[in-house]
Amino acid sequence: MAEHLREDGARWVNFYGRRRGKRLRPNRAALIDGRLSGLAPDAGLEEGAMIAPEALFPGRRALWMEIGFGAGEHLLSLAAAHRDVGFIGCEPFLNGVAAFLSGLEADRLDNVRVHADDARFLFDMLPESAVGRVYLLYPDPWPKRRHAPRRFVNDDNLDLLSPIMARGAELRIATDVADYMRHVRKVMAGRADFEPLSDDAAPWDGWPGTRYEAKALREGRAPRYLRFARKPR
Ligand SMILES: C[S@@+](CC[C@H](N)C(=O)[O-])C[C@H]1O[C@@H](n2cnc3c(N)ncnc32)[C@H](O)[C@@H]1O
Repeated sequence: MAEHLREDGARWVNFYGRRRGKRLRPNRAALIDGRLSGLAPDAGLEEGAMIAPEALFPGRRALWMEIGFGAGEHLLSLAAAHRDVGFIGCEPFLNGVAAFLSGLEADRLDNVRVHADDARFLFDMLPESAVGRVYLLYPDPWPKRRHAPRRFVNDDNLDLLSPIMARGAELRIATDVADYMRHVRKVMAGRADFEPLSDDAAPWDGWPGTRYEAKALREGRAPRYLRFARKPR
């Protein structure tokens, strides 16, 4: 893919998904207004400053990230099961974020921050090797051939993600779209910085499911669960 540079020399990234759906119910709109800015991982940072994971999650043993958490059921379940880990969830679709915030209130979790935007905008705010695990679950499939470059799994995005992943950190991907499975295997096989760990029809341990997965199973599709490790530099 051709590289496009902004005036400041940074790379342009386009987001093609939806940012808004139905009008939010008043209680959800209030959560967005009242809670979201305080949960942003870069809240209070000066423009251009880096996020310090130890300051964001004092005393937590690791930082894990979920890209495109949808309504956040998986993220909530994981954060509850791993209280010793700090989580950053990324999701640009505001209605999903609002649903997630409502769950976060109910579960009273204090180990999650929310980047309500394209995950890629976060990557250059995090220090090298900061992230111990990344989940990308049921990414938008972009099935039309001409839209394939929009798929999140591509070399440009992995070039941005890879440096912030620690040595041995896992990238976990689930998809129910056969062509996306093949696409992931092909892109990842071409990368010197990742090695495959597993490629299974059954989910990994502690898997709580996701909303999209439930839909895929209802509609008779068979998901695939793939794990890759960030290779030592
Ligand atoms: C098909 S949905 C899956 C949602 C959820 N993971 C699930 O399994 O229920 C894909 C999600 O990825 C989000 N997404 C797409 N591109 C993204 C990006 N660049 N950064 C963060 N999230 C993204 C979309 O907004 C959408 O909510």
